[in-house]
Amino acid sequence: MKSPGVTIRKLHQMKRDRQPIAMLTAYDAGFARLLDRCGIDCILVGDSLGNVIQGRDSTVPVTVAEMAYHVACVRRGTERALLIADLPFLSYSDTGQAIRSAKRLMQAGAEMVKLEGGAAVLEQVAALSRLGVPVCGHLGLTPQSVHHLSGYRVQGRTPDEQQRLIEDAAALERAGASMLVVECIPDALARHLTGASGIPVIGIGAGAGVDGQVLVLYDVLGLYAGHTPRFVRDFLSGSASLDDAIEGYVEAVRRGRFPGSGESFGD
Ligand code: KIV
Repeated sequence: MKSPGVTIRKLHQMKRDRQPIAMLTAYDAGFARLLDRCGIDCILVGDSLGNVIQGRDSTVPVTVAEMAYHVACVRRGTERALLIADLPFLSYSDTGQAIRSAKRLMQAGAEMVKLEGGAAVLEQVAALSRLGVPVCGHLGLTPQSVHHLSGYRVQGRTPDEQQRLIEDAAALERAGASMLVVECIPDALARHLTGASGIPVIGIGAGAGVDGQVLVLYDVLGLYAGHTPRFVRDFLSGSASLDDAIEGYVEAVRRGRFPGSGESFGD
């Protein structure tokens, strides 16, 4: 068990105090150690490892065993930050499978699991949280559904989509989710969800009106292969060291200097 560091209770207090939460992904002990000493609040072992570590073009092929391996590596480098792990594609299609998958990630060292979707995963969220597994929801652009969504596109543009996201966010909270990630949705919608929510809402491509920000570590270090999404900022360019880059990200999130208006989506 790590020494007292960032807890769910602390993250909820940060929301109440309007103190922005800084989150980044990591996939190994070395980078986890860097993020931890630079003051990151939450480290996400994202299934984006399918893209940035494995070189695949989606997160769909990532397995629970691969996630558990990277969670164990990140655990060894993390002392202070809260460690969150993604349940990968179709590893939580019913409650039994969700419990088995979450067990592997929690026993590898995760302190919270993240899963994608709204109405379709409410039973899984309720079962996990009843059993003492903290859950983070993920709405908006959900990369595991890239084929269903016909690509990586901004979500929540139409009134119907907006209504569905508002209902899904409320339902996830009622089901017991402790936190919510919203990805690639218009600023105004993210701001509305954040105001209506009793749990911290962390955005990626969702503007500045949320309780915190998350980015993929490789993007923050300018290692994005191919097209760079508008919500990404390279914090390494112009920094003297990796520590400076990560501290720069934490500081920019804390002071509301990231994201800027050109780094998010209007209606
Ligand atoms: O897998 C991941 O890295 C994520 C973040 C982009 C939120 O889910």
